[in-house]
Amino acid sequence: MALEAIVAVYADWGIGLKGTQPVVLKADRKHFREVTGGDAVIVGRRTMEDFPGGKPLKGRHNIVVTRQPLAIEGAQVVHSTEEALDAAAEQGRCLVIGGASVYEQFFPWLEKIHITKIDLTPESDRWFPDLDAEADWVCTQQGPWQEEGGIRYCFCTYERQKKTAE
Ligand SMILES: NC(=O)c1ccc[n+]([C@@H]2O[C@H](COP(=O)([O-])OP(=O)(O)OC[C@H]3O[C@@H](n4cnc5c(N)ncnc54)[C@H](OP(=O)(O)O)[C@@H]3O)[C@@H](O)[C@H]2O)c1
Repeated sequence: MALEAIVAVYADWGIGLKGTQPVVLKADRKHFREVTGGDAVIVGRRTMEDFPGGKPLKGRHNIVVTRQPLAIEGAQVVHSTEEALDAAAEQGRCLVIGGASVYEQFFPWLEKIHITKIDLTPESDRWFPDLDAEADWVCTQQGPWQEEGGIRYCFCTYERQKKTAE
């Protein structure tokens, strides 16, 4: 099963502080909507609580991971990685959208990651793996550096390199 992920990283690959993203760009929100729109997403319960109104995202099939016996309107609730993978297999394209614990657990299934690089280093307490330091991940597409409110950002795509037969 191959999954994609989408994440916005700061210059030190930090992704969040105290349950939220310390710096958010409008352009990144728009990009997130465009990349995930109409598809399935796997999201951790804590990240979902940081969404507007603490609710699942509209226009996407939300697979929410929690160990609690929750019923969440507008979401498919699952209680383990395996259950989430089974749920994702029944959907078309599925993107892992965080947070940190969810990215980490689903990392082995990721083949493509949409990264927004934000050229700032606010304090973070959650991080994404530095893909530039991972031998089997390559940046296959890098958009131009742009600016919003004096903050530089760019959209990139990383792909896992296929192992070649020796
Ligand atoms: N920069 C970005 O693009 C981006 C994107 C998303 C999130 N974030 C940031 O990431 C941070 C949140 O990350 P986080 O690691 O603290 O929380 P998280 O991954 O969003 O959610 C963690 C929760 O998910 C549930 N969970 C995780 N693995 C599970 C499993 N295998 N089985 C069942 N349930 C499981 C548990 O919920 P229960 O406690 O209910 O059992 C756990 O407490 C925030 O700061 C957020 O802003 C950043």
